[in-house]
Amino acid sequence: MQRSKIKDIFAREQSGGDVLVQGWVKTRRSSKSVTFVQITDGSTLQDLQIVVDESNPSHEAASGLTTGCSVSVEGVLVESPGQGQKYEVQASSLTVLGESDPDSYPLQKKRHSPEFLREIAHLRPRTNTFGAMARVRNSVAYAIHTFLQERGFQFIQTPIITASDAEGAGSMFQVTTLDLNDVPKDAGKVKHEVDFFGKPAFLTVSGQLEAEIFAMALSDVYTFGPTFRAENSNTSRHLAEFWMVEPEVAFCQLDGLTELAEDFLKYLCGHVLDKCPEDMAFFNKFYDDSTIATLEGIANSQFERITYTEAVKMLQESGEKFEYPVTWGIDLQSEHERYLTETKIQRPVIVTDYPKGIKAFYMRLNDDDETVRAMDVLVPRIGEIIGGSQREERREVLEARMSESGISHDEYSWYLDLRSFGTVPHSGFGLGFERTVQFVTGVSNIRDVIPFPRTPGSAEF
Ligand code: 4AD
Ligand code: MG
Repeated sequence: MQRSKIKDIFAREQSGGDVLVQGWVKTRRSSKSVTFVQITDGSTLQDLQIVVDESNPSHEAASGLTTGCSVSVEGVLVESPGQGQKYEVQASSLTVLGESDPDSYPLQKKRHSPEFLREIAHLRPRTNTFGAMARVRNSVAYAIHTFLQERGFQFIQTPIITASDAEGAGSMFQVTTLDLNDVPKDAGKVKHEVDFFGKPAFLTVSGQLEAEIFAMALSDVYTFGPTFRAENSNTSRHLAEFWMVEPEVAFCQLDGLTELAEDFLKYLCGHVLDKCPEDMAFFNKFYDDSTIATLEGIANSQFERITYTEAVKMLQESGEKFEYPVTWGIDLQSEHERYLTETKIQRPVIVTDYPKGIKAFYMRLNDDDETVRAMDVLVPRIGEIIGGSQREERREVLEARMSESGISHDEYSWYLDLRSFGTVPHSGFGLGFERTVQFVTGVSNIRDVIPFPRTPGSAEF
């Protein structure tokens, strides 16, 4: 017989018929005449109840089951008289596939703290929370591809090892095969020419610059993959390794990009509400009871659009005491972003036209010579979820910006070339995948929405 997934079993229109189900034991309770076993196979949040009568030859095995054991069950699907579940399986046979020592199995029926669960990241997918998180994460990834594919974007795979620093921020992990205990040097300087790539190489912070190459040929493209930042930020919203989706659109200016970002976020929220109702109800109940209402609100809201200069004015006139005082020219801090989207405007806000001094070299310079065509999308609870811009397509202006920012024209000659051979206005953004999962689930720490978080001082599993 073929194994049925528990999710598919609950989706059946009627009971009856033999089934084979396999999974892990959540709980077991036995009375004199019958044993009830709740099992899960991770296909859904719902456990399936297995009923094993005393007369069944498998009863002895069933009555010894403990949390975490794996089992294979054959039986008949029947309507469940119990509350809260549609069906249960009246077992004809139950086989223990793997034991689980109750004295050392770390997961108990009680709720565990997220900090404890991070220490046992090999078992946390067995919890309701982490199972729900993994399913929602999967659903968001699916929706990302679906949305972009349906709009005719081509998925481009950009390199993970790169020699270019897309953000020019210098927070990159170096990739080397040099012996760190005996680094070859010439007059005190590292001989990079004998390293694996013959020059310094790094883990990418963004696939944008390579995506731009393809946008200058295929028009609408996107990357979706892991990116790395060696920043020492120990916050609930930063990871050293995270995933980013980066659409890059040719023949598109900033206005078109803000439309795309708004449609994209609304689509992702709607998709998750539609495809993961059980998991979302779980997060809404146990994590943040405004999660579902927030997502529904997003789908129906119109995102606010303000300039950086207007944002600064709002913050200065707010009467709030911020840890970082606000003056024109500062980078907005999380507290400022959250004030704008949560308190002042109370829905997603797109802030545009930031001072050039705090943004990357590739953003298009405005006529005021002071601001660039940057855009950040801020959402409640998270702050910045998207960062993007219209790109500088004018070669001379780009060259001047690169010189100002100390970026080598030689090393980025290919990037400059794109501005010499058929340059066009183009724009793109990066959506943080984990911040998106954090936003849709209401889970407060970013370490709890990625299977194996990498943060300063921690790279377990
Ligand atoms: O604003 P960022 O740095 O933009 C870029 O990297 C551009 N090259 C994107 C582009 O235009 N193609 O990062 C984009 C998004 C942020 O808005 C945030 O959601 C997420 O990536 N992000 C992080 N997520 C988790 N941990 C970190 N350390 C992150 N840094 C950025
Ligand atoms: Mg940013």
